[in-house]
Amino acid sequence: MSNDPIQKLNDYKAQSRLGGGLARIEAQHKKGRLTARERLDLLLDKGSFREVDAFVVHRTHDFDLDEQKFVGDSVVTGWGTIEGRLVYVYSQDFTVFGGSLGEVHAEKICKIMDMAMKSGAPIIGLNDSGGARIQEGVVSLAGYGEIFLRNTLASGVIPQLSVILGPCAGGAVYSPALTDFIFMTRNSSYMFVTGPDIVKAATHEEVTQEELGGATVHSEKSGVCHVAADSEADTLYLVRKMLSFLPQNNMEDAPFVSVGDDPLRAEEALNTIIPSDANKPYDMKEVLRMIMDKGEFMEIQEGFAENILIGFSRLGGHTVGIVANQPDVLAGVLDIKSSEKAGRFIRFCDAFNIPIVTFVDTPGYLPGTDQEHQGVIRRGAKLLFAYCEATVPKLTVITRKAYGGAYLVMSSKHIRGDLNLAWPTAEIAVMGPDGAVGKVFSRELKEAENPDERKKELIATYREKFANPYVAAQRGYIDDVIEPKETRQRLINALEMLQNKRDSNPAKKHGNIPL
Ligand code: HXC
Repeated sequence: MSNDPIQKLNDYKAQSRLGGGLARIEAQHKKGRLTARERLDLLLDKGSFREVDAFVVHRTHDFDLDEQKFVGDSVVTGWGTIEGRLVYVYSQDFTVFGGSLGEVHAEKICKIMDMAMKSGAPIIGLNDSGGARIQEGVVSLAGYGEIFLRNTLASGVIPQLSVILGPCAGGAVYSPALTDFIFMTRNSSYMFVTGPDIVKAATHEEVTQEELGGATVHSEKSGVCHVAADSEADTLYLVRKMLSFLPQNNMEDAPFVSVGDDPLRAEEALNTIIPSDANKPYDMKEVLRMIMDKGEFMEIQEGFAENILIGFSRLGGHTVGIVANQPDVLAGVLDIKSSEKAGRFIRFCDAFNIPIVTFVDTPGYLPGTDQEHQGVIRRGAKLLFAYCEATVPKLTVITRKAYGGAYLVMSSKHIRGDLNLAWPTAEIAVMGPDGAVGKVFSRELKEAENPDERKKELIATYREKFANPYVAAQRGYIDDVIEPKETRQRLINALEMLQNKRDSNPAKKHGNIPL
């Protein structure tokens, strides 16, 4: 190394930038993956990245590790901006010891997490790692412990986004799991607690990494992945996009972004979108497209529990969290998966001051032994708990069915809904006409000369009397019944009316959500 101080500095920096060396960079590219620094270039505003700890090296002597030192070790850390807003980042470098996490790798991540907490800015972790650095033994485990603790303490204070761009296995998966959102790249990233070899040894199952824990599995089956994309570039673009909806921390509001959509825009098509046959489905995404600013809806967990929709949109420039039953899938029924999916999202929105807009069309909770035995009582209660606990502005629109417990759960007036609107097509009752008539008039139907005909008459009477929005509106459980086309303007007006809303929960250490 040169004796000239400036040259020495530049040599050091060049070494650091080279990570594990050209051969390993080439190997990374051959796998169709980018390097840690290339990823940061795509994620952050051009030229905004400021690195820290580029000179850090490991302190391990075992396994002749002191012969192999890489300047900066196996993670690149620092801060930068996304659309001009500060974020803290770490990006694991697979070219150095397979991105494995040892003592100094963990210290670098913890330093950046502490800085993010102090300055109230989001932290984004780009994960590509073989897990705990085997040569460093229990010291690596200690490093994970430090990170897990910080993830937990930061939860609800700053947004934490995890992006999985390569392997993420063993206990290492639990750092992303503790964060708010997990992004994955299809056919390139994977997450599992135990890999295919151990699975084979333990259960004799033969399974590939992709089948066990690829982005598709985690987007559609496990629900672990919130957003998946086909390339690393697309995945990182979606991280930038999500951040545009979020505040920097729990003390701020989300940024106001006017996209030039008329707040008074009324879509005539909304007035006829509900089919006249109550059993016919329609696509709730169509409804959202017609109401939200420029029809934009950044859907989260799109392929998981598709009977409920969650995601971010804007109304009159204000970020909102959307929770909507999807009548197009399983009639929009509530079940374990959809309750957990929406419950967690509601808690994120509540923690970060994002108003929640709920669209309701659900026949209720899914009946059956499968659901009961898997604990729909305990797990379905998460959604109820999340809504009850939330103190952000809560707006509700009942488009069609709101029956029984599901009526209460879906952000009803009784659990602190701020503005509860119904379309004239709303059916708010203890249960649907079919079930209700079968129960209430069972004897009469048994004795009737023509039971089918009588049942039809009774259903028509029940529908007329109870399956409408007016019984609830007469009691003030619904604040107003509106023409569907007015929905956009009414919601925007309500968001503005509620801008200074204050509500709180009793002082306590924390509640005890039914986990
Ligand atoms: C040290 C590691 C490493 C690790 C990989 N490397 N993982 N070094 N500790 N955990 C090194 C390899 O020796 C190799 O070094 C380089 O990284 C690239 O690895 P390859 O195996 O050549 O890459 P690839 O074929 O792509 O396979 C990637 C991999 C595999 C699937 C991640 O490396 C692997 O299985 N690694 C071990 C995974 C593991 O068991 N980790 C511990 C999990 S337990 P050279 O010098 O040859 O380039 C855990 C507990 C955490 O993480 C607990 C927290 C509570």
